[in-house]
Amino acid sequence: KFSKLEREEPDAIVQIMNKYSEDTDDRKVDVTIGVYKSESGESYLFPSVAKAKEILRANDPGHSYTVMSGIPEFIEGARRVVFGNDIPQEGKLASLQTISGTGALHMAFVFLKEAGYTNYYLGIPSWSNYIGMIEHIGGTVTTYNHYDETTRAVDFDSVTENLESAPSNSVFLFQACCHNPTGADFTKDQWIKIAEIVKTRGLFILFDNAYQGFSSGNTEDDAWAIRYFYRQHLEFIVCESFAKNLGLYGERVGALHVVVQDKDYVDNAQSTLTALFRHECSFAPAFGARLGSIIFQSPELWKVWENDVAEITERLHHTRKQIYDRLVQLNTPGKWDHVIHQNGLFWFSGLTPAQNERLITKHHVYSTNIGRVNVAGINKSNVDYFCQAIDEVVRN
Ligand code: LMR
Repeated sequence: KFSKLEREEPDAIVQIMNKYSEDTDDRKVDVTIGVYKSESGESYLFPSVAKAKEILRANDPGHSYTVMSGIPEFIEGARRVVFGNDIPQEGKLASLQTISGTGALHMAFVFLKEAGYTNYYLGIPSWSNYIGMIEHIGGTVTTYNHYDETTRAVDFDSVTENLESAPSNSVFLFQACCHNPTGADFTKDQWIKIAEIVKTRGLFILFDNAYQGFSSGNTEDDAWAIRYFYRQHLEFIVCESFAKNLGLYGERVGALHVVVQDKDYVDNAQSTLTALFRHECSFAPAFGARLGSIIFQSPELWKVWENDVAEITERLHHTRKQIYDRLVQLNTPGKWDHVIHQNGLFWFSGLTPAQNERLITKHHVYSTNIGRVNVAGINKSNVDYFCQAIDEVVRN
């Protein structure tokens, strides 16, 4: 009955993560999957989330079904995180609680297919799951360069050329900030230019917003592009993950927001989202979303959360600087300032596949095979070892 099935390899990120778990060497360093770890190398419970857990424990809501489109207080808060206080009141958003950011993306692909959009453009390198997910729903993907290896920043000529030449109604998938895997984000001027072309060419933008706050340390600043697009009267979708910026990876907390500038169609979009979610999942998980709701509905806890995000970002910046300083001290051949200039959790090292492989086999340092390093996996106790390993593979 199943002779048609072929053996599938795990996703590249997951493969290396699994390899790391199997490694028994004490010196091993995990800079693979995008999980924030504290200075002590542990996964991190945000103080705001710890407090929300206490509050939830004292007010146990039980385990019944919630609301299919999402827990209302969660959706209300998730909207304010992305769009600020004013925009959500204009009545132009249709939203859905989703199974984290990946679930939001999946529902966006399914929703856009229903609306007649299946033709995607994706800047590469990019998150390893996008293409498979789009093809899975029957969409097609055209790729172009997002990143210029010589400047180690965004290849903006390539982006604009593709925006200018893509057929109208194509969907461009952009990451709002902290680009995964390159850490190379658009500047405000570049976003303004993108919005201009999108408007004149009738394109559609899907924002993947999985690291809001981890670029500037401030969730407001990191939402700048999204709010700018809204104010330009563009229609677009935002996929929001709280895996990283609430540290609720396994709880699968996320949301999807469709901006519908013509209010006559908001209800159609909302009811379509809810109906599709019924077919796909019925209800999203409640626990993590309830923690989010408690934080978003309390001005005091929201402040604690903002501080948590700021502290994490500060540590990421500090760690980047430490890596840079060590590589300079070691006189490691090459230019390393991109470790400081790139944003968010990831440093796109520029090491070759052979060097990345040697990092694993000789030094037990696990980054991804394309050279994406999760900066949060580095701390005081392993930064020297990590930089010496880089130095060794570069020289050999
Ligand atoms: C990553 O890229 O490491 C994260 O987004 C986690 C994942 O699901 O791949």
